[in-house]
Amino acid sequence: MTDLVLTEKQGQVLVVRINRPDRKNALTHAMYTALGDAVEQAHADADIRCVLFTGNDECFTAGNDLSDFAAGLPGDFEETPVGRFLFLLACANKPVVAAVNGPAVGIGTTMLLHCDLVFAGNNTRFQMPFANLGLCPEGGSSLLLPTWLGRVRAAELLMLGSAFTAEDADRLGLINRICDPADTETTALDACHKLAAQAPAAIRATKELLNRPTREQLKDTMLAEGEQFAERLKSPEAAEAFKAFMEKRKPDFSKFD
Ligand code: COA
Repeated sequence: MTDLVLTEKQGQVLVVRINRPDRKNALTHAMYTALGDAVEQAHADADIRCVLFTGNDECFTAGNDLSDFAAGLPGDFEETPVGRFLFLLACANKPVVAAVNGPAVGIGTTMLLHCDLVFAGNNTRFQMPFANLGLCPEGGSSLLLPTWLGRVRAAELLMLGSAFTAEDADRLGLINRICDPADTETTALDACHKLAAQAPAAIRATKELLNRPTREQLKDTMLAEGEQFAERLKSPEAAEAFKAFMEKRKPDFSKFD
């Protein structure tokens, strides 16, 4: 149990709130477990028809807790808390919506690739700095991004790993709407209630058909990414990147080949 992820039913919508503001909502193993549990809860409860992931007006999440990263990932990726969460999210059969503001870093961006609707505040800074941290793509991003955006755009986001704005995300087709940060959650919640009022089996069938073309390849990609990711976490490049973050400096990769 952790109070760093809060869940609350609002009508037939399960609101899942990432709640660790002092660490920019960075996600620990326990928080991933709670996020995965929320997806399972939604699956099991017939009265839940939609899930909303959110943070607060200023921050969605700064991604994986970098101290946890430094400690590595135990065992098979899909059985780790982050792997379990990502697989549950990718396989969710009910609609999932995200309301994001401020930093949406690492998994804070890749988890959105598995959401059905995404609403972003105009203060959102998306970023997938995996290569910048000596790591590699995760969450199926190495398949979904080139498929949706084209190879060079995906490579730019994943290899340069620079932050991009809500306007950029809108132009790339990664979000549905840009909001005033104070309104992002209510706008998203409104969409959730509309989804919850739709015919549930029709919505499940629609989601299943939208996911079908990439389903098998996605699973395969997520397993390959997970394996590579776990290896990269143990690399000297990643160690240098994590040390640099703690020391509040830029990493120096000049000595690596
Ligand atoms: N893991 C652990 N701690 C984190 C963190 C993370 N991913 N992101 C932020 N924090 C901590 C900071 O170390 C800082 O702690 P301190 O107050 O003890 O110094 C605190 O949260 C506030 O963060 P800060 O960097 O001061 O906020 P900011 O508004 O200037 O910047 C970010 C916000 C998200 C841009 C910046 O924190 C950042 O780049 N975080 C790392 C993101 C990342 O690389 N995530 C992994 C993705 S794979």
